[in-house]
Amino acid sequence: MDTEINTVNDSCNSSTSSDWRTYPFATEPIPKLSISDPEINRYIAETRPVIITDSKLVEPALKWNLDFLHENLGSSTFNVLVSKNEKFMYYDTRKVQRTKGFHSDVKFEEMKFDDFVKRLHRASDIEGDNVYLQQALNDTVGKKIVDDFVKFNWSWVTDQQKRHGWGPLTSNLLLIAPPGSITPAHYDEQENFFAQVGGQKRILLFSPDQFGKMYPYPVDHPHDRQSQVNFDDPDYERFPKFKEVKALEGFINPGEVLYIPMYWWHHIESNPNGKETTSVTFWYKTGTLPKQIPYPLSSQQKVSIMRNIEKMLSECLRNPEEIGPLLHMMTDGRYYNTHNIMPPV
Ligand code: SIN
Ligand code: FE
Repeated sequence: MDTEINTVNDSCNSSTSSDWRTYPFATEPIPKLSISDPEINRYIAETRPVIITDSKLVEPALKWNLDFLHENLGSSTFNVLVSKNEKFMYYDTRKVQRTKGFHSDVKFEEMKFDDFVKRLHRASDIEGDNVYLQQALNDTVGKKIVDDFVKFNWSWVTDQQKRHGWGPLTSNLLLIAPPGSITPAHYDEQENFFAQVGGQKRILLFSPDQFGKMYPYPVDHPHDRQSQVNFDDPDYERFPKFKEVKALEGFINPGEVLYIPMYWWHHIESNPNGKETTSVTFWYKTGTLPKQIPYPLSSQQKVSIMRNIEKMLSECLRNPEEIGPLLHMMTDGRYYNTHNIMPPV
């Protein structure tokens, strides 16, 4: 299939098409609905992404510019990712030891807020010093931030949590990113209401049924849950099915909230022509399984099964290099021939 080059042309947003990178896959817009639209409940119940306007979820935080945060965040240190380039690919430091030859352009540092702000502003002068603050909002923050946090629209978000049978809220991450920064495609294992506080972000989403086209790193690898494909220069010899991938694309502005369902891939960019961007995540554990599980299983449930199988093999074999060959030996020439079905595309 021929690939299409899409440029952004979203008339509801103020971005011009030349501001953003172009990628070699087809996109459709993420629906954007007002809080008063009952359709929102259907999207969330069906674990489909939707951008919600007018929810007032983080209304009190809309004034959180760098000066306000500087004055009110408190004097503790904050978790910052420092990257040699504009990409901030997360990795699990606990998995680094067991991965031969692992290298990353990203480092984790702890720093005071004023150091972060200085480095954020100097980023364009000092090559290879890009900083992205990713800090859980906790009890070290100052009183004014706590007051705003308490006034978030908890009644709406808690109603959603109950309505959809989710588990507890696990954390609220404060994200402050430089313009043009990129969080490369990955999936999380929780439900997320992603609230935009300042600046504009572009989001590309890929459904969990495209797992085989996204080529995630093995579960044992520090980049677990991240795609191996470099979107700027996809290696189609190693990752041929990435040619067929389809994305949903949306832009979120201050006051808007994106529902990112668990296991949905997301690639997130901060507007390259804007200022820094600020967001707050609301991560919830997913709900427990219903007594009567509907079959066939959903693609989310299949991703969960695959992760468990990988983890089990990793524990049993103790050598990540043996996992692929064992899985091949187990399936090659067996299931497809017997059941007369073709490998998934
Ligand atoms: C980001 O906004 O850059 C990352 C947030 C996420 O991956 O959930
Ligand atoms: Fe994420």
